[in-house]
Amino acid sequence: MDTTCQCLHPGLANDAPTLRPANDGDIPFITEIYNEQIRTSVGLFLNHEVSEENRLAWLRDLQKGAYPCVVVEVDEVREDGVRSKRTIGWCNIGRYRSKAAYDATAEISLYIHRDFRGRGLGSLLLGSVVAEARSRKFHTLLAMVTAQNTDSCRFWGKHGWGQAGVTREVGWKFNQWLDVVTYQIIL
Ligand SMILES: CC(C)(COP(=O)(O)OP(=O)(O)OC[C@H]1O[C@@H](n2cnc3c(N)ncnc32)[C@H](O)[C@@H]1OP(=O)(O)O)[C@@H](O)C(=O)NCCC(=O)NCCS
Repeated sequence: MDTTCQCLHPGLANDAPTLRPANDGDIPFITEIYNEQIRTSVGLFLNHEVSEENRLAWLRDLQKGAYPCVVVEVDEVREDGVRSKRTIGWCNIGRYRSKAAYDATAEISLYIHRDFRGRGLGSLLLGSVVAEARSRKFHTLLAMVTAQNTDSCRFWGKHGWGQAGVTREVGWKFNQWLDVVTYQIIL
């Protein structure tokens, strides 16, 4: 019996992707996706790859602050039929600024593995984390998006996030100045 699903990706089991809270087992996958973005994209303002320890410390901080971090996971099927779980993206919110008046504001991050984009998974994760943020009584969410990353800008606009401003030439990566667009929703 063919258990693969061509609609999502060849080699994947024919099950719906699972959304669930991130745990330590996701860290190798998250680190791989994050480092790929550091190497290839102006969307992430870092120049050097990070370790799994770095991402684990990041996850611990989110957990301590009760900030939701949700992953999307799929079942992969190897040629010999063995199935294994693979985390292919995540979405989290985190502290926006340290001063107390910002307590109910959070900044969102959302990453989908390059091979799995454009299949609705980013939208699924976004819906889940926004619902979670609402239930935890956050008031405002912000997404800081590199303006030159036009695909990402389209994503936030498509989901009804309003443009709250553009900060010009605040980043320097790959030999160019980069602008940052702030998108916002009030929950
Ligand atoms: C932005 C991102 C999370 C969207 O996730 P996704 O799973 O590809 O998005 P969905 O399939 O749910 O939605 C598709 C929409 O996203 C946008 N999009 C962004 N990148 C895309 C891509 N590589 N392929 C297709 N659509 C993309 C488009 O607006 C598209 O809608 P359209 O087809 O009607 O134009 C994903 O492209 C990504 O991880 N990008 C790199 C990291 C990033 O920029 N994160 C946002 C800043 S924190």
